[in-house]
Amino acid sequence: MSAAAAQRATAFAPASVGNVGVGFDILGFSVDVLGDRVTASVSATPGVTIKAIRGVADDLPLEAAQNTAGRAVQALVEAAAPAFGIELEIEKGIPLGSGLGGSAASAVAGVVAANRLLQTPFSKLDLLKFAMQGEAVASGSLHVDNIAPSLFGGLVLTVGIDHPRVKQIPVPKGVRAVVVHPHLYLATKEARAVLSKTIGMSDFVWQTANLAGFIAGCYSNDVDMIRASFEDVLIEPQRQSMIPGFADVKAAAMAQGALGCSISGAGPTIFAWALAEQAQSALAAMEAQFASRQIGVDGWVVDIESAGARLVEI
Ligand code: HSE
Repeated sequence: MSAAAAQRATAFAPASVGNVGVGFDILGFSVDVLGDRVTASVSATPGVTIKAIRGVADDLPLEAAQNTAGRAVQALVEAAAPAFGIELEIEKGIPLGSGLGGSAASAVAGVVAANRLLQTPFSKLDLLKFAMQGEAVASGSLHVDNIAPSLFGGLVLTVGIDHPRVKQIPVPKGVRAVVVHPHLYLATKEARAVLSKTIGMSDFVWQTANLAGFIAGCYSNDVDMIRASFEDVLIEPQRQSMIPGFADVKAAAMAQGALGCSISGAGPTIFAWALAEQAQSALAAMEAQFASRQIGVDGWVVDIESAGARLVEI
């Protein structure tokens, strides 16, 4: 039995690293150290309205249909047809154009908060589909690799768009993620526009092997298998020139013994996976490369396990 519907609820949704190198548009993991919060309140104004946007990005559209959280909650409202409107307040904790899944987190926090106002709440899988509509407003495409980990938490594989199936994948205990966010802006739409529409057969085989090996390594606790498979041969080569110093940052992480290093989502954030003993030195080495180019950064070593989006106030 679900709790009585609330008049007002606030949800937090974590940042995320999309693609994880080998799983373009289908694999991602959540990064709990930062995220977006959305408060949803019952309103007399029909439909979805956005009252305020605060935090690290306040110049986002206030028109619901143009806003990732607004559009996601509109999709929920279209499906639920509640007898009231929903007003949103958005608190951005994830910088725009950072490659940390900011648009996905707003959409996810929006639907998780709004769902709490409903007499009959939707399942998480339904919320995923609503949130995807919001993500599409920002990136122009229906990809799920940020939405799914932000909503479910941890390393998440999503298969299918119309009828998505979500799998939370175990990560070997000693593995940490190193995340380095350079203070640069890169629009997802722009980073998608540079990608070739076709790929060669040998690259297809190589990338397929890497994705399969990576997932198999995670399930079987085989860190060497993860290391051997942790290479994006398709997307990274096409995007890396958009991130100043990428090759040196990656080389610095690998020299410290990282299992792999690649672009977080569309970039410019760069992430690595490393064993706990090497994670801090990988972080320092990656940050030093940006510092040598006078580019400011934020950096974190994080656990990949996470609870995903959650209600924080009702
Ligand atoms: N998978 C997407 C991309 C993530 O790489 O374009 C962007 O948020």
